[in-house]
Amino acid sequence: MQNITIAIDGFSSCGKSTLAKALAHKLNYKYIDTGAMYRAVTLYAIRHQWIDTEKNINETALIQALSEIELGFVNNPETHHSDITLNGENVEQEIRLMPVSSVVSKVSTIKEVREKMVALQRQMGKRKGVVMDGRDIGTNVFPKAELKLFMTADPEVRARRRADEYSSKGQYFSLDDIKHNLQQRDQEDLNRKENPLIKADDAVVLDNSDLSREQQLEFVLKLVSDLLLIRREPPLH
Ligand code: DC
Repeated sequence: MQNITIAIDGFSSCGKSTLAKALAHKLNYKYIDTGAMYRAVTLYAIRHQWIDTEKNINETALIQALSEIELGFVNNPETHHSDITLNGENVEQEIRLMPVSSVVSKVSTIKEVREKMVALQRQMGKRKGVVMDGRDIGTNVFPKAELKLFMTADPEVRARRRADEYSSKGQYFSLDDIKHNLQQRDQEDLNRKENPLIKADDAVVLDNSDLSREQQLEFVLKLVSDLLLIRREPPLH
């Protein structure tokens, strides 16, 4: 089967990674979670105390250290998903916690950070056969991706999903706090200067507020098979 690039963009907590993982599994493609990459850089900055309690970032220090930050993905034999590594350490769990979540959008606005991440993402996806999710994949990282999805969902549904995700890890926050954090991140993602979150003109919108995981997967697999069918048709003479 011909390999394609699938770019999935959208707001946070819209179920992008759940769908991307299922798709990658079904198609036997590689899954790249680009949000995890921004999160790992953020964790590195937090550990070096370059982010203060007011969320001010010592950008100079972070930019200077970018060449020391090595990111990779390793297969987790328990979950069968890929976990992110930061300089060889598996940080998949730590990057999902509130200290990182509350400042990652800010770190992701730094031009030099984005340049490094985008270059790495293009390298990781250059052989196609990849599902990549993030905010600027269809517009910036792979503007020629054969299939682009833009995911969205009702803000209440998103907040509840995020609350469930936290509580499954033993972390409890009020729904209001979670909503506030999501709104803040949406604003930061939409309004940043470098590669803001925008729907690509040729992206298919997927609002999954009322869709089960299976329905979403079925919807996208149909798009993929239609696309592959069209691409196999001989040219008209
Ligand atoms: O998908 P996520 O919530 O794990 O992403 C974490 C942050 O990283 C999010 O606030 C926006 C940023 N991000 C980005 O700017 N560009 C991407 N391609 C992916 C994520």
